[in-house]
Amino acid sequence: MTVVVTGGAGFIGSNFIFYMRDRHPGYRIICVDSLTYAGNLSTLEPVMNHPGFRFVRASITDSAAMERLFAEEKPDIVVNFAAESHVDRSIENPSVFLETNVLGTQVLMDACRKSGVGRFHQVSTDEVYGDLPLDRPELFFTEATPLHASSPYSASKAAADLLVLAYHRTFGLPATISRCSNNYGPYQFPEKLIPLMLINALEEKALPVYGTGENVRDWLYVEDHCCAIDRILHDGRVGETYNIGGHNEMKNIEIVKLICKELGKPESLISFVEDRKGHDMRYAIDPAKMQKELGWLPQTKFSEGILKTIRWYLEHRAWWEAIRNGEYQGMIQEECAGGQEREGFDGV
Ligand code: NAD
Ligand code: DAU
Repeated sequence: MTVVVTGGAGFIGSNFIFYMRDRHPGYRIICVDSLTYAGNLSTLEPVMNHPGFRFVRASITDSAAMERLFAEEKPDIVVNFAAESHVDRSIENPSVFLETNVLGTQVLMDACRKSGVGRFHQVSTDEVYGDLPLDRPELFFTEATPLHASSPYSASKAAADLLVLAYHRTFGLPATISRCSNNYGPYQFPEKLIPLMLINALEEKALPVYGTGENVRDWLYVEDHCCAIDRILHDGRVGETYNIGGHNEMKNIEIVKLICKELGKPESLISFVEDRKGHDMRYAIDPAKMQKELGWLPQTKFSEGILKTIRWYLEHRAWWEAIRNGEYQGMIQEECAGGQEREGFDGV
């Protein structure tokens, strides 16, 4: 089985590569990543020299590169994690979100059609449903909830989802979609809530909480997300969408206070700042379809997952310090300059 994983140098994609290597050691895995600011080659060090692994630096928007690669590798499965993923950045500069998240998805699907890929899986988000009110705790997002995106990021992901469903219906592309809630765990880029607060607290810097901090997210440990995607790839029905969530709703302020407590840092570091524009209030996934059809349930309780995550950041200072001081991008330049000499590293 040959699996192309796009965006595999980012947070969830890299965790997925490690998960697949452990669960399916016989699979060949090809990571396609253009190494934007969010891509980090050092994350992939543990697999870089593995014989069943190949890294290709390319953009999913580059149709010639994607067609060449797919013709050469004839992948059975393509899992698309590659995206611009940060809501705040989409508010600053929407255009790259449309290029990567919408056009990139279309380019990949055309390459899949040409090479006869057996499964295209689109990694989407619960943000495509918009948000839920705080005073209606009985409401959850199901797969039938209408799309109602709030930010340029979520609008671009919703557009890509519609395109995937259209390619399935019009061209018979064997596609599936998963829409997941907020992930946390190792290798998350420190612009997102949990790693940002963790690292700022360690460095005794201000902890910028948007608005009142009452916004609710449904947190899922990243390995549980990877497991859910693996289930969909093997047993999911083509043309279907699956919601993935942890039934683990927490207010942002609760998370930030918990991080302060676990690190022994004072809550006086918390600083309430201007709210995010169009800030979604509450996300909450109903994962009943995943459970009923595929027998999937999250395995990691938040109380365990957050401690594992905190421990990981404490034990991997070099990883995030290189990001904070920009050195990780220097490593990308070096790898690319000498790339052809390294087994497993490749450019298209
Ligand atoms: P991330 O920002 O950590 O990683 C994105 C990766 O994609 C990076 O390695 C980046 O270099 C790569 N990339 C960006 N543009 C590219 C392009 N044009 N061509 C090739 N590679 C490109 O993101 P993440 O948090 O790991 O999210 C992965 C996917 O999961 C995204 O599609 C996101 O929408 C979705 N998702 C994320 C979460 C979450 O909580 N983080 C939850 C649900 C869904
Ligand atoms: O729900 C899934 C989505 O989760 C994914 O599709 C996105 O790719 C991912 O980035 C994430 O989006 P959020 O906007 O929910 O994540 P973020 O970590 O940026 O913010 C989480 C909450 O914390 C949100 O309510 C905004 C708030 N926040 C965030 C930051 C970075 C703060 O209060 N302060 C901050 O500095």
